[in-house]
Amino acid sequence: IYRSTSSTTLPSFLLVGPSGAGKTALLTLFERGQHVETRTSQVPISVEVSLPVSTNAASLKYRSVNDPSNQVHKKFLLADTPGHGKLRHYAFDGVIKPQNLKGIIFMVDAADISMGNSGSGNEALRQAAEYLHDILLLLQKRSTSSKTSKAPKELPILIAANKLDLFTALPAPLVRTALESEISNVRSSKTKGLLDSGIGMNDLDIGEEKEWLGDGGDGKFEFSQMDEVNVAVSVAGGNVLGADGQDVKQWWDWIASNL
Ligand code: GTP
Ligand code: MG
Repeated sequence: IYRSTSSTTLPSFLLVGPSGAGKTALLTLFERGQHVETRTSQVPISVEVSLPVSTNAASLKYRSVNDPSNQVHKKFLLADTPGHGKLRHYAFDGVIKPQNLKGIIFMVDAADISMGNSGSGNEALRQAAEYLHDILLLLQKRSTSSKTSKAPKELPILIAANKLDLFTALPAPLVRTALESEISNVRSSKTKGLLDSGIGMNDLDIGEEKEWLGDGGDGKFEFSQMDEVNVAVSVAGGNVLGADGQDVKQWWDWIASNL
């Protein structure tokens, strides 16, 4: 795979999500236009990707089709990270030290998280929710830790519900609600963990405190609570491979609208 060296100024998107979600499969599809067999990633990798001609980048809207700079602006860097629990520092680094970062794609295997109902039975859902919680909390901290009162720069995140070719996969709207309610659980169990470890309720200062994701209430977590810190969360389904071919159009469109 071509490793980009001289393109630090290109807009970039960061690919994160649990192991086996299909991140590297998407990267190779976007880069080469075809599916290549992947194995689990151990290091991050960045490739240069060109937006398909049929997709118009938001930044090109007011330019003439003959503008030569169109060609330049349609390219971006896609940074893939390993999903394994012990290798997630690569992803967190990518969020913290963004180089012209335009957005984050959190990919999940929608078939994997569909097993069992909510409650204790679904380990894959719990793990995905925990990972997503930590990414969102990092993004939220950009604003609570900033010295100025100004809201941080907008940073959109796409939850890509992958493997919708599998009949057991949860449709994208259900992936959204499953993750929202599981993040609610993660949020309260993390707080409980802190309290159990001897930190007083006053030290926690829920509501303003940096460790509490979303708004201060103890109700349900919803992705819309991230709007306040300028993080727009979208959910869109697709599949990188499948018997009837791939379907990645919604993801291309999201990238294009944030490029
Ligand atoms: P890590 O590198 O471990 O973090 O995983 P990853 O997210 O990079 O997963 P990877 O791209 O390696 O894909 C995991 C497996 O899922 C591979 O065997 C892919 O062929 C398969 N896969 C990826 N996308 C799809 C899809 O849309 N449908 C189906 N059925 N399988 C898929
Ligand atoms: Mg991978």
